Amino acid sequence: MRMYDLIQKKKRGEVLTDAEIAFFVDGYAGGMIPDYQASALCMAIWFRGMTAAETTALTLAMRDSGKVLCFDGIDGVRVDKHSTGGVGDKTSLIVAPIVASLGLKVAKMSGRGLGHTGGTVDKLESFTGFRTELSLSEFERIVNEHGLAIVGQSGELAPADKLLYALRDVTATVDSMPLIASSIMSKKLAADDDCIVLDVKCGSGAFMKTVDESIELAEMMVEIGKRAGKRMAAMVTDMDSPLGLTIGNALEVEEAIETLRGNGPSDLTELCTALAVQMLVLAEKGDAAFCASEVARVIQSGEALERLARMVAAQGGDRAMVDDPKRLPHAQELCVVTAPCSGYIASVDAEGYGIAALLLGAGRNTKEDVIDMTAGIRLHAKTGDYVAAGEPIATLYSADATRFGVAKEKLLESTVFGASAPEKRPLILKIIQ
Ligand code: URA
Repeated sequence: MRMYDLIQKKKRGEVLTDAEIAFFVDGYAGGMIPDYQASALCMAIWFRGMTAAETTALTLAMRDSGKVLCFDGIDGVRVDKHSTGGVGDKTSLIVAPIVASLGLKVAKMSGRGLGHTGGTVDKLESFTGFRTELSLSEFERIVNEHGLAIVGQSGELAPADKLLYALRDVTATVDSMPLIASSIMSKKLAADDDCIVLDVKCGSGAFMKTVDESIELAEMMVEIGKRAGKRMAAMVTDMDSPLGLTIGNALEVEEAIETLRGNGPSDLTELCTALAVQMLVLAEKGDAAFCASEVARVIQSGEALERLARMVAAQGGDRAMVDDPKRLPHAQELCVVTAPCSGYIASVDAEGYGIAALLLGAGRNTKEDVIDMTAGIRLHAKTGDYVAAGEPIATLYSADATRFGVAKEKLLESTVFGASAPEKRPLILKIIQ
């Protein structure tokens, strides 16, 4: 087989066989295929696309380039939830304890944040002592005892994807639907879950900006998962506005705890409930109405919050911070941002808000950057709210007060005021099963 022929075939819009796709992935991961040929193929895929069978073959070949986990030691139905990345998205911290308290097993591997999107693992490190690296046996033991554990994603999973992603990043081929779908699913399928629920974000703070492309991506990933034998569902959800009222690690953890206490913002509560319901339905715990009532029950009773506390303690963290979130790290400095004029918040650029949080120290520009756990933004007004000139719209937090100027500028530049209330967009745009 020759790489030249594969490029030629895809360039002409022909369909690659499973063997050809495996040849490409193995050859590239093994260093036998040079970057220039891999780039040419990615560009041909960008223009010509891939069939569902080709995308699945690419996903499985990338999954098989590294370690494929086996969670045989975990009893019960294993479920996972994956978000394609957004601003203020703390849903995993809420959804995982909810479904764990209802008998599902969540052995979750999460990423760190990069750029304007946050990562669950970083957020969890707001708990003093919390360990995000566990041995497989410890991971399984904690999941069996408490129903959930969340660790950082191992570099040993899908190494071919890591190499290809870096190449796509510099060859303008990241935004290809089959390449994105196979990249995400190769890592999801390397973990040994029975059911996967995808939260495909759509809007200004997301990777996918339009509803149509978000639906296409969601459908593609659901199809890949089903072909690989998983029970799958996906939700396309709004990311034109940040989720909830906080952006930044410790601030988001505090909001997650409040949501598990039943006092969360309405958008966050709605989305977490819907995600948990999808996971429970896939795991055959009942129909959607029954599962929704069960979710409300474990929030009300405190059982879901107790699961989070147990997981934090089992992973070496300070559970007193769950019981009393005032103990979480808090910023020394704050800066209130006020509305420059009276009017409705007509729209916000969620990515701009994410960048403002990054400028405060809540995220990384490079992998080496150290996060300020206390940094971030608390929103006092969101899209559709009326504010009078001089009224607070947000509070900025940071350990470093010199960061406030640029962050405030970014936040204001990302907020559009208007004379009338904007049309409300639903939070959940589509459910795909
Ligand atoms: N996230 C991934 O893991 N891969 C992509 O290609 C895009 C987003």
